[in-house]
Amino acid sequence: MTLDVTLIEGDGIGPEITAETVKVLEATGLRFSWDRRLAGMAAVDTVGTPLPDDTLESIRKTSLALKGPLTTPVGTGYRSVNVGLRKAFELYANLRPARSIVPGGRYQGVDIVLVRENLEGLYVGVENYVQVGSDPRAVAQSMAIVTRLGCERIVRYAFEYAVRHGRKTVTIVHKANILKMASGLFLEVARQVATEFDGRVASNDMIIDNTAMQLVMRPEQFDVMVTTNMFGDILSDEISGLVGGLGLAPGANIGPSAAIFEAVHGSAPDIAGKGVANPSAQMLAAAMLLDHVGEVERGNRVRAALEDVIVGQNIRTRDLGGTAGTREFGDAVARRVG
Ligand code: NAI
Ligand code: MG
Repeated sequence: MTLDVTLIEGDGIGPEITAETVKVLEATGLRFSWDRRLAGMAAVDTVGTPLPDDTLESIRKTSLALKGPLTTPVGTGYRSVNVGLRKAFELYANLRPARSIVPGGRYQGVDIVLVRENLEGLYVGVENYVQVGSDPRAVAQSMAIVTRLGCERIVRYAFEYAVRHGRKTVTIVHKANILKMASGLFLEVARQVATEFDGRVASNDMIIDNTAMQLVMRPEQFDVMVTTNMFGDILSDEISGLVGGLGLAPGANIGPSAAIFEAVHGSAPDIAGKGVANPSAQMLAAAMLLDHVGEVERGNRVRAALEDVIVGQNIRTRDLGGTAGTREFGDAVARRVG
C-alpha cells in the first residue's frame, strides 16, 4: 500500500523540520507518495497567493496533509492560511495531545489529549462597533455562534477518540454558569452524548477557570478534555507548557473529508536556516497522521523512538537543553524507528 499525502513544507524552519519528519516516516517502512504543494509566504513568493488552488485541490484528493508552519505577515493583508484551510475543509476537531517526555521537567505524569472545537464560538468573527454620540467605537460587540450540531460532533469525536485509544475519562470544559446559552448548549449536548458512552468512558464536567487552575495544580487528573473554540485555544497552550513547550507539541485538524497534521509552533524566523530547530513536534504530528490512517503501531513506533532518543540516548536540540542539530536529531530518530 502507498499512502498519498499532500506535503506542505511551510516557511521559516518548516523545510528543515519537514525533511527530518519525512525521513522518519519513511523509516517506518510504510510507502508514501508525497504531493508537494505550496502555501504561506513560500506560495506568495512563487505564485503570488498564500493558498493556491492546486494546494486545495491536492488536499481534496489525498484528504491528508502534513503541513509545516506558515508565516503570517504582520500588518500586510492576507487572512491566516490556517484559518482558511480549516474553513475550506470543515476541520472541526483540533486535537492537541501533550505528554511529559523529558525527565526533570516541572510536571511528570501528564498525558492529556485536548479536543478543541475549531470552527464555532467567539472565533467566528461576527463583530461590530456601536456608535454612541460622536464616538463611532464606543461599544464593541462580538457574537459567539454555537450550534447543536457543532457541539454534538466535537463531543462525539472526543468520546470516540477515548474509546479508540483506550482512554478512561472525558472532561467537559465549559462556562455554562455565566454563558447560559452559548456554553449551556454545549454542556447540555455534551452530557447527553456522554450517556451514550456509559460504562465505556467515564465523564465529568468542569468550569473553565477552575480547569485552568487545576491544570497547574494537578494536571495528572486529566485524560481527554473537550471544549469550545476559545477555551480550547487557551487551554491547549497552557497544556503544552506543562510538558516542555512548543518544541514537543503536535496538533491535528480533522474534518469529515480531510485531516491536516502540523506542529503547534510557528515558523520560528529567529532560528530558520540554522539547522537547530527541534523537529519533534512535527514528528509527533506525523505520528498522529499514522494513527489517523489506522497505522497505530507505526505511530507508536515513531513516538517510542523519539522518546528513546531524547530520554534514553540524551540526544536533544537546543530548546531542550542539548546541542544536537535538527539533522542529527532526525537521523537518530530515523535509525531508532527503522
Ligand atoms: P513561533 O512558534 O514561530 O516561535 C516562538 C519561539 O519558539 C521562538 O523563539 C522560536 O525560535 C521557538 N521555536 C518555535 N518552534 C521551535 C522549534 N521547533 N524548535 C526550537 N525552537 C522553536 O512563534 P512566533 O514567533 O510568534 O511566530 C512566527 C511566525 O509563525 C508568525 O508569522 C506566525 O504567524 C507564524 N505561526 C504559524 C503557525 C502555523 O502555521 N500553524 C502557528 C503559530 C505561528
Ligand atoms: Mg492558539
